[in-house]
Amino acid sequence: MAGHEAGKPLLELRGVTKIFRYGMFGFRFRAVDDVNLVMEDRPLILTIAGESGSGKSTLAKIILGIHKPEYGQVLYRGRDIHRLRGRELLWFRKEVQAVFQDPFASFNPLKRVYGYLYETVKNIVGISERAKIDAYIDEVLRSVGLNLDKVKGKYPHEFSGGELQRVAIARALLTRPRLIIADEPVSMLDASLRVNILNVFKRIREEMGTSFIYITHDLATAYYISDLIAIMYRGSVIEYGPIERVLTKPLHPYTQTLLESIPEPDPRRRSEWLKPIKLSGIEEKEFVAKGCKFAPRCPYATKRCFEEPPPEVVVNGVRVRCWLYYVKGSSPAEKR
Ligand SMILES: Nc1ncnc2c1ncn2[C@@H]1O[C@H](COP(=O)(O)OP(=O)(O)O)[C@@H](O)[C@H]1O
Ligand code: SF4
Ligand SMILES: [Mg+2]
Repeated sequence: MAGHEAGKPLLELRGVTKIFRYGMFGFRFRAVDDVNLVMEDRPLILTIAGESGSGKSTLAKIILGIHKPEYGQVLYRGRDIHRLRGRELLWFRKEVQAVFQDPFASFNPLKRVYGYLYETVKNIVGISERAKIDAYIDEVLRSVGLNLDKVKGKYPHEFSGGELQRVAIARALLTRPRLIIADEPVSMLDASLRVNILNVFKRIREEMGTSFIYITHDLATAYYISDLIAIMYRGSVIEYGPIERVLTKPLHPYTQTLLESIPEPDPRRRSEWLKPIKLSGIEEKEFVAKGCKFAPRCPYATKRCFEEPPPEVVVNGVRVRCWLYYVKGSSPAEKR
């Protein structure tokens, strides 16, 4: 990836692997398999895209510290997040916030949503005076197109899905996070509301300098808002780089098949040309493969593809996990 000479990356994943075990026979599979990612420390939107079951949410939970990986490390501004304790953990929780798919599941139906905002400001932000808390909440609600009067006294069911998702975003923003991880934040909303929420993300990025990890199975919205994209396939990130390059000149055969049906992309009409592409579901057993996981479907597969996992290679600033781009004598992830 492009250099991050200005200091430590915002986020760095090194060989992150999460293994789930099933049943009496201890069937194991890698829901996240040797993921490497680097995100520079400047306001960026990175999309993680993949089919349902490809490991996106598991990866998000690992980055949030909810799941501990069996192998590998997650470094946030140089610190291993799974080793943080006490004050450092509080610092991390302020800096990295999450927004999930279903806003109604994020709030207790019997509790007024204002209570959540109030507690976050009091306990995490550390403001104690009531009037100052309200003024601060109002300011943050306005950044997502709401205000305190519209929110105070209301229960979750009194909001529409789109409004409640905006409250959830405001709640995440209260701690002035440097990074927000949004896991399918618009997939339950009507199409007309999706762009609305995505525009909120764009504006927050510009005005507050917040970075986002946007998780989706929809490449159209990914293309609309992101700078970078990581494509996941069965637990692995198989291609990662600037979105323009990955979606207009995809290197990995899997990314190519995803985009095959798209006629003549015109980058000037970035929000229009890519029709929503829904990725299909996959079976867990397909996660277990000796060589390249895409080999059974790949038109370029060779014997080696079925026997050895492909290395990660960097081609013009894009990381790709495929034997096609491997040059003999180079070591994995070396520039060519
Ligand atoms: N807590 C868990 N225990 C066991 N298996 C899980 C757990 N969470 C997710 N999985 C499995 O891991 C795979 C990846 O799931 P997930 O990360 O939710 O994918 P995605 O978000 O891309 O749809 C799926 O096969 C899912 O069934
Ligand atoms: S490693 Fe081989 S099977 Fe896998 S995507 Fe590349 S060419 Fe296809
Ligand atoms: Mg998911």
